Amino acid sequence: MTSQDDFGFTPGARLPNGLGRTGTITTPHGTVRTPAFVVVGTKAAVKAMLPEQVAAAGGQAVLANAFHLYLQPGPGIVDAAGGLGRFMGWPGPTLTDSGGFQVMSLGSGFRKTLAMDTTGLQDDDVIAAGHERRARVDDDGVDFKSPLDGSPHRFTPEVSMGVQHRLGADIMFAFDELTTLFNTRGYQVEALERTRRWARRCLDEHARLTGARRHRPYQALFGIIQGAQYEDLRRRACRELSAMRSSDGGLPFDGYGIGGAIEKARLGEIVGWCADELPDDRPRHLLGISEPDDLFAACAAGADTFDCVNPSRVARNAAIYTADGRYNVTTAANRRAFVPLEDGCDCYTCTHCTRAYLHHLFKAHEINGKVLATVHNERFTVRLVDRIRRSMADGDFEDFRAEWLGRYNANGG
Ligand code: GUN
Ligand code: ZN
Repeated sequence: MTSQDDFGFTPGARLPNGLGRTGTITTPHGTVRTPAFVVVGTKAAVKAMLPEQVAAAGGQAVLANAFHLYLQPGPGIVDAAGGLGRFMGWPGPTLTDSGGFQVMSLGSGFRKTLAMDTTGLQDDDVIAAGHERRARVDDDGVDFKSPLDGSPHRFTPEVSMGVQHRLGADIMFAFDELTTLFNTRGYQVEALERTRRWARRCLDEHARLTGARRHRPYQALFGIIQGAQYEDLRRRACRELSAMRSSDGGLPFDGYGIGGAIEKARLGEIVGWCADELPDDRPRHLLGISEPDDLFAACAAGADTFDCVNPSRVARNAAIYTADGRYNVTTAANRRAFVPLEDGCDCYTCTHCTRAYLHHLFKAHEINGKVLATVHNERFTVRLVDRIRRSMADGDFEDFRAEWLGRYNANGG
């Protein structure tokens, strides 16, 4: 039965700063204890990990992407399979991103700017931002060419909502325009206003589709906060999206995504502005972060969930996260290192294999090297956020942060 009661957020313990909190998100496919790291499965697959390995690594929810699944295999196939979770064999909560970010990052030159470190940027990192994309934005939507076969497509708020309703994830995101750190303030304002109008159209289409598909579990919709590094724009976006209701029936957003360009050094500050403005009883998802210092900053500032491709992406390049920093297992030092990837880690890889074994697998181009490294990095990230959550509940978050980051950074981070 469709009901907004199928979805909810209950805040728990609070940090002394009044922003950071623990909580529980309830969905038709189970609960998520927050703060939580959401594992990315862009194309209805967590790369190099089976759903049962994701669960064993402590993953509570999986996030796929409407843009990729629209292009392949098409939302009709996923719908016919019984929705994203059924299709991929993941029984827990699922999320889909709207495609806004992926459409805008098409083509050469676009650099992920969320939580990026802008020191040491090269000229060509900057030049292409906003130009020469395979996508063109107008007030109604985005035209783009399929990266698979070059065929022309168009995404609008209504198309994205239609796709996401057919994908059937528990949490969907509104279709937004992602800007970069290098756009002018004038363009940021223009994009923000477009994103606000699109958010309203998403809510209306969501209300319409929810009514038309009454027999299905309720799918929650999160509005996305843009506004880059500008405090007034971020706060304005939060206030506008918090107050927004669908035209008929007055449906509000069920939660909020915090997106867009965020300079790493200012992440906590920017998330804090948003947490300060957004309603306390709705969850806040910070899109696209996973570095340990970013996770601490985001949790302190009041973000509840996060996602990022990074832990698994770097694992496929043999980069291993540990409490003492990141290292590459293909270096010669690991050839005879008959010790776990990370001392004290409880993941499958660390309890069954050695650095020397993974060194060999990567050198021999065996697929299992990528699998085992991914299992460790995902467990590392999920477990770090679990420990942050516990420290928040126990009232010793700041001590835990200082101690944990002190050790991590002592070895180069
Ligand atoms: N993923 C990372 N950043 C963003 C963003 O700003 N918007 C969307 N839709 N997805 C993202
Ligand atoms: Zn491990």
